[in-house]
Amino acid sequence: MRDTDPYQQIARFYDRLIEPIQAGVRRTSVELVSPRPGWQVLDVGCGTGTGMAPYVEAGCAVTGVDVSAAMLEQAASRMGDRAELIHTDGDGLPFGDDRFDLVTTSMVLHEVPADKRVPFVAEMARVTKPAGRLLFIDFRIGPLRGWRGPAARAISIVMERLSGHYSHYRTFRMSDGVPGVTGGVGLDIEREKIVAGGNVAIFVVASPA
Ligand SMILES: C[S@@+](CC[C@H](N)C(=O)[O-])C[C@H]1O[C@@H](n2cnc3c(N)ncnc32)[C@H](O)[C@@H]1O
Repeated sequence: MRDTDPYQQIARFYDRLIEPIQAGVRRTSVELVSPRPGWQVLDVGCGTGTGMAPYVEAGCAVTGVDVSAAMLEQAASRMGDRAELIHTDGDGLPFGDDRFDLVTTSMVLHEVPADKRVPFVAEMARVTKPAGRLLFIDFRIGPLRGWRGPAARAISIVMERLSGHYSHYRTFRMSDGVPGVTGGVGLDIEREKIVAGGNVAIFVVASPA
């Protein structure tokens, strides 16, 4: 677990800063996986819990984990007892194998240090049922589109510099982002949806066979 929490100061304002950009991306990602009532869903790096709410509304049993106590506090006030919340690092998930129908992580992987990304995703894969799916939302490596792409990229760079994990963002970009990590774990990307003018992508990934 980290000694300091980079989200301590901004957790209370996080949704106001991020949701104007991220709300549409979340809606698209939920449409891509069509959650069913009764699914067990895990959100790794759940932050303030905004991404968990649509799965609860779809009748899923939702668990969120995060390494930031400040972000989990916000998630707890949003979700109440509608989701289980656990304070832990995603590199050691406190669950047995093959437990979840869907394991998702949104805008987290680029914050994870380079040498921990493969173990982090391997943990996600371990707790996913054989017929389940993994869902990644994160920065995309590739050409930008229209005016929206360069604008979103510029905002992202400022945010990453301010939040203190710019060096991880850089190594994530240099190592091909999400496909670079899922490839290292031997996972196949089933679908990629480009959003935010090409600055972000949503990846649906098959559980390991
Ligand atoms: C940019 S925020 C995204 C929050 C949320 N997923 C969303 O889409 O709004 C990144 C979150 O990932 C969490 N995080 C970063 N590294 C983590 C790790 N190794 N294990 C668990 N959570 C982590 C941070 O504490 C933070 O809450």
